[in-house]
Formats: sequence, C-alpha cells, structure tokens
Amino acid sequence: MEKIEHYMKRRKQLASMMKSGVAVIPTAPERLRNRDAHYPYRFDSYFYYLTGFKEPEGVLVIVAEQAESVKQILFCRAKDPEREIWDGFRFGPERAKDAFGFDEAYAISEIDKILPELLGNQTTVFAALGNDAAWDQRITGWVNQVRAQSRNGVTAPGEIHDYRTLLDEMRLIKDDNELQIMRHAAEISVQAHRRAMQATRPDRYEYEVEAELLYTFYRHGAQSPAYTSIVAGGANACILHYIDNNAQLKQGDLLLIDAGCELEGYASDITRTFPVSGRFSSAQKDIYQLVLAAQMAAIEQVRPGNTWNDPHQAALRVLAQGFVDFGLCQGSVDSVLESEDYKRFYMHRTGHWLGLDVHDVGEYKQQGEWRTLCPGMTLTVEPGSYIRAAENVPQHFWDIGVRIEDDVLVTASGNELLTAAAPKTVTEIEELMQ
Ligand code: GLY
Ligand code: MN
Ligand code: MN
Repeated sequence: MEKIEHYMKRRKQLASMMKSGVAVIPTAPERLRNRDAHYPYRFDSYFYYLTGFKEPEGVLVIVAEQAESVKQILFCRAKDPEREIWDGFRFGPERAKDAFGFDEAYAISEIDKILPELLGNQTTVFAALGNDAAWDQRITGWVNQVRAQSRNGVTAPGEIHDYRTLLDEMRLIKDDNELQIMRHAAEISVQAHRRAMQATRPDRYEYEVEAELLYTFYRHGAQSPAYTSIVAGGANACILHYIDNNAQLKQGDLLLIDAGCELEGYASDITRTFPVSGRFSSAQKDIYQLVLAAQMAAIEQVRPGNTWNDPHQAALRVLAQGFVDFGLCQGSVDSVLESEDYKRFYMHRTGHWLGLDVHDVGEYKQQGEWRTLCPGMTLTVEPGSYIRAAENVPQHFWDIGVRIEDDVLVTASGNELLTAAAPKTVTEIEELMQ
C-alpha cells in the first residue's frame, strides 16, 4: 500500500464510525520556548495519524453521511514565498490536496468562513472538547454562527462527540505500516543503549552518556527522543522521573537508562540497568536477576486472550517472592501482595500502551474489567525495584535501583519482543561492557 493510502483508509474508517456529522481535528500549535525561540515542533498525534501531514496550522475536517466519508478536507498554511525564505517549504493547499489524498484543501485563513457552512444542517460535531480552551471557543463560535441562521431554515448541530473516543480504539491496534516504523524505532533505540553501555565508565558524567544516546538517535534518522531520557547513576535510579542527568558516575554503582527515540511520530521506550564498572556486585546481581525474572514472567503473559493486568500480576508475584527471600518484606508472598507492602520497592505499574504517544491512547479497562489483549496491540513491560536507604532494609541493598523495559507486540500466537536485541542478561551485559 502506498503510504498515503494508509491515512486515507484511516479517515474512511473514522467516517464509518462517526456515521454522520462533521469532525474537526486540529494539529498541535507551535509553542514558544522563550522570546523568538520555539520548542521543536511536534504535530498532534490524532491529526498525524489521519493525515501524515507534519506542518503546523493544519486542520482536518471530515464530513460523514450514512457511515461514508463524503468529504475529506485539509486546511493548511497558504504558500508564502516570503515566509518560505525564512522558515522553509510549505505545501500550500493545492499541493497538499494531491500529496495527502484530500477531496478539498483550503488556506487556514479560510476556515472561519467555510466551517459554519459545513456545519449547517448537521446534527453532530466531533471535537476534542477540553483539550484546548481556544479551540473549544472556536468550535462553539462556529456552531453559534450556524444557529444564528435558524430563521433562514438552517439547523445547527445539537450534539458534540469526542473523536478521541473513536480514534483511541483505532490507534490501539497498530497496522502493518505502523509496526514497520515501530520496529525500526526500536532498532535505533537498541543501538543507542548498546552504545551507552559501551561508553559508560567510572568518573564519566550522566550527561556524557545521554549524549551517546542522542547521538545515536539522530545519527540513524530519528527526529527526537520520545521523552526526556533518564540517565540515573547509583541512588538517582531510585528517583523514578530523574532527568537532571548531571551527576558523576561512581565505580561500584549501577546506571539506569530509560531512553527511546521517536521515529516518524512513533515512540520506542527501553530501560536497561547495568554496572558502571562493567561487573555486577553480588547484591546488585540479586536484585537485577529478580527484576529480570519478573520481566520474563510478565512478557510470558503477553498473548491474545490474556488481560491487560496479567503481565503486571505475574511480575508482582515474582517480585514479592524475591522481596521476601531477600528479607526486604516479611510474611508470605500472598500477604505481601494483599497488604501491598511490595510498594515500598515497586510502586508503579508494569507497562503502558506504546505508539504515537509514549504513553499511548486506549482504555485499559472496559465495562470495569481489564481489557483483553489482541494482536496488533503494542505495550511496554517494565518492572523494577527501587531500594532506598532505610532502617529496616538490609544495608547491602541500599541505593540499588533497577528497571528493565522492553517493547512488546501482541501477535496471533503470543508476542514479538521489538527490543530483544538490547543486552539484558548479566552475561550479555558484562560481555558487551568488557
Ligand atoms: N519512559 C517513560 C516510561 O517508561 O513510561
Ligand atoms: Mn515505559
Ligand atoms: Mn521508559
């Protein structure tokens, strides 16, 4: 399939779920960092999923009737030779219409005129209310303009639905085109983790290792990290969202790296933990192998027919057993699970959906029950143990923080580990770091 056909197919599918009405789906705004400097531009994931269009100031409009898309319209920036000297190429409506497979395309400056016309005599508007107050106002403004024409016999939409409810379910199941990109993103991130392991030595700084990650992402064509990289030596690994990345690495410490690139909009998300010196101490190895066993048990549960929560439960049971064996928790495994005493060392869940957003869309429960895993879903499996210094904790475990995270695709027969090539066993890690 040609690339634009994937997007056209998704728009058709959305129209059929809408049944009838008008969807108005804007991309993300550009954001100022300070004065004249912008943050690197990142399109809105819903908009991009349906268009493949990466420029700012785009709006997708889909008019649906009887579950058919009757019109697919793109609003985008007009050609502007003067601005293009400064900011670079822009498609403009005419070229964008053909290049991205639209029925119609207009300059974004036309939207206030055209949208009220499209909304006339429609019953339903599909919009992401609550996402952006300025957009909410524009939508209600257009609806009000239609309402003002009631004496001319035009009826205004009486219902607003959220298109995200429809799109989240679609985005949850990845198609072949998405999987191809996600496999590639995973490969680049694997390379980055390998390089980071090889570059790690005592006395280097966390940011020096971060530089190796970023170098590898960009070097292989990724557009960005998918989230701020965590490069956390020693006790910093016990701070779950540590992003300072400015401490010096110490012989005898572990280094936890949680980093993944974004490629063509798709995230990868890998965590590896390894010894700064290249060799695990005995206490580090105990905790590391416990987390690894928990991760393997969780990955084993990723298969169609199991529920979202099964991998988490499998990881918890292994971890709780280990915490009891190592004297970190007291009592039976069942009592530790029941009392949630394990949360002193493992306080987050074992994964999340992965896709255009690193914490991707899609409900985790349906009608109050954990949802069933289906082929095409992609998720992370990322158990950990974070042991801070405390009186009732054996001292040899103090400041050990370990997380191991892989990206997993649910397949018809089980799962595919997208990030399997990142070294993970004690032997693999120690060998690579020699
Ligand atoms: N890197 C974000 C996460 O692991 O969820
Ligand atoms: Mn993750
Ligand atoms: Mn992560």
